[in-house]
Amino acid sequence: MTFLQDRRLNFSVRSDSYRSVSTSFCPALPVEAGSAISSSMIIAIDGPAAAGKGTLARSIAEHYGLAYLDTGALYRAVAWTLLREGRDPHDEAAAIRAARELDPAILSRSELRDERVGEAASIVAAMPAVRKALIEFQRRFAAHPPGGRGAVLDGRDIGTVVCPDADIKFFVTASDEERARRRAAELRERGVTANEAAVLADLKRRDARDRGRATAPLRPASDAILLDTTGMTIDAVFESARKAIDARLAEGSKGG
Ligand code: CDP
Repeated sequence: MTFLQDRRLNFSVRSDSYRSVSTSFCPALPVEAGSAISSSMIIAIDGPAAAGKGTLARSIAEHYGLAYLDTGALYRAVAWTLLREGRDPHDEAAAIRAARELDPAILSRSELRDERVGEAASIVAAMPAVRKALIEFQRRFAAHPPGGRGAVLDGRDIGTVVCPDADIKFFVTASDEERARRRAAELRERGVTANEAAVLADLKRRDARDRGRATAPLRPASDAILLDTTGMTIDAVFESARKAIDARLAEGSKGG
């Protein structure tokens, strides 16, 4: 049994528990021609809220048999802890403590996907000490991914800060209106009443905060592949990413 340990977060997690939470390990699948991954590969996916990062990251992880880490869930978990304690998300001391003592069991809670938690997550995510407390966990995951074949991480700063040496980086975007439509549909699917105009305003406010913060702001890495998914189906987005990854793998095998 593989155990992942993170002293900074003060917990150790059984690697198989990742599967049931917001992280997952996809066991090796039949490897298609051109998609062989011989050594540990790191794929970084960044982008604004509701751009489709998670959906793409999961499909890539499944296709290539890689582990998956939704890094947004870590910030959401810190925010949710504060809200549950009745605290203001701007309470920096409490946010730092929540990040350092984060219980991975809460990463699986569906409440983490609530809009108010996303909003509070972007407030705590602007605090350098919160980011510092969470980065070690993310890097450890990338360095020792469950399954050992590599990992896909999605977030805001994976290609720029967490894994600047990732083998391939994507920056996924979509128009504001399309992102609001997708997020509203996701909320409705969960039985939450969603007003698209309000969702749009929330997404814009959150993106502005994520882009404007001093520490690890949301921005594409200089070597990221830009994927504008406006008007594209989930399958088309995956196909376009798959081609880019396979091309990178082919380059790698030629280069030895
Ligand atoms: O799912 P959605 O795109 O709405 O958001 P998320 O990925 O769950 O992230 C929630 C919030 O966490 C973001 O608005 C960011 O403020 C923060 N975050 C971050 O700062 N860095 C990351 N690597 C991931 C998330």
